[in-house]
Amino acid sequence: MPRIICVAGARPNFMKVKPVMDALEARGAEVVLVHTGQHYDAAMNDVFFADLGLRPPDRHLGTGSGTHAEQTARVMTAFEPLVDELRPDAVVVVGDVTSTLSCALVAAKAGVPVAHVEAGLRSRDWAMPEEINRVVTDRLSELLFAPSPDGVDNLRAEGYHDDQIHLAGNVMIDTLYANLDRALASDILHRYELTPGGYALATLHRPANVDDPGMLGALLTALGEVAQELPVILPVHPRTAARLELAGLPGGIRLVPPAGYLDFIALQASARLVLTDSGGIQEETTALGVPCLTMRDSTERPITVTEGTNTLVGRDPARIVGTARQVLASPPAKRAPALWDGHAGDRIADTLLSYLAAPVRLRPTDLRETVVGS
Ligand code: UD1
Repeated sequence: MPRIICVAGARPNFMKVKPVMDALEARGAEVVLVHTGQHYDAAMNDVFFADLGLRPPDRHLGTGSGTHAEQTARVMTAFEPLVDELRPDAVVVVGDVTSTLSCALVAAKAGVPVAHVEAGLRSRDWAMPEEINRVVTDRLSELLFAPSPDGVDNLRAEGYHDDQIHLAGNVMIDTLYANLDRALASDILHRYELTPGGYALATLHRPANVDDPGMLGALLTALGEVAQELPVILPVHPRTAARLELAGLPGGIRLVPPAGYLDFIALQASARLVLTDSGGIQEETTALGVPCLTMRDSTERPITVTEGTNTLVGRDPARIVGTARQVLASPPAKRAPALWDGHAGDRIADTLLSYLAAPVRLRPTDLRETVVGS
């Protein structure tokens, strides 16, 4: 059976890699879990391994924080000898973080097929480091597993071959459904003295939102106005914590430490409203049927708007507050996109293993001529 490296590096990777690993191992593949070390704090890392039942990484690259170039270079430098040593049949990368791109680049240059889970998502905002990571990772990958039809459409429009593109569904939702009962048993609402449906949950960590004190201040003002309607709980990412101290906090917003996976799902599931700049939370709220306002100008997950519970509100405080008031005045509706059904990991494992077992493998290295030549 093939040997497959699965890469995880940062918080949003852990819940995406787990269902793929499980499905590959259930089919007899040898999986080597590599942690790049991009996230390392207990609250960003250890608690997720414990909550998700993810085994300790087989290899830990220990690369840590740094500038984008430093992080990319460190992960590449540490991952290259590992690929040489293990000679994997494939490398699976998930999502859009710096570790995703770095490992895809090493594997592709070593001639090892790369499978990208969560391929095809596009915000079309080149100022987001994640957008660059998505586009380049897709270009380096032989197998592109899209979570939703918009991802397939984007990949086709960019000239990828149809036999590279696989509509697999959403692995984050596999993990959500697998853990929902355990999450709902969490006592976090009790610990924070919250009533179901009686609070808003907010998260903020995108550089575009928290690095500029003016922008952060405007978003906090908006959250402060929402907090006049109902309490706002704000678990704080390390990137945001230091900046919040400088910006000052309006009344009614409660800062809490970053939550573990189960606690955070519990907080989302019982929130009346979620306000966020995260990617994955747009998807989880859609699956949970909880209204979500995304405080960004673009989303790489448009299906959460067209078929889910998400509204893209931008970053203008008046619009955020106005939309929040409208949402609070109307009943929530639950809708889940097709193939967000808890079986994306199975579909990915089946496709990847049959690809690796094929006697003659098509290794698409060029985009379609129509695009290249046009
Ligand atoms: C990364 C991802 C982002 C994802 C987010 C989730 C990229 C480009 N971005 O952003 O897509 O939504 O993770 O959390 O990969 N830090 C700690 N402890 C940690 C990790 C980071 O204190 O365990 C601090 C460090 O000061 C670090 C900063 O947070 O410099 C940023 O971390 P980094 O991994 O570079 O990016 P994130 O902002 O976490």
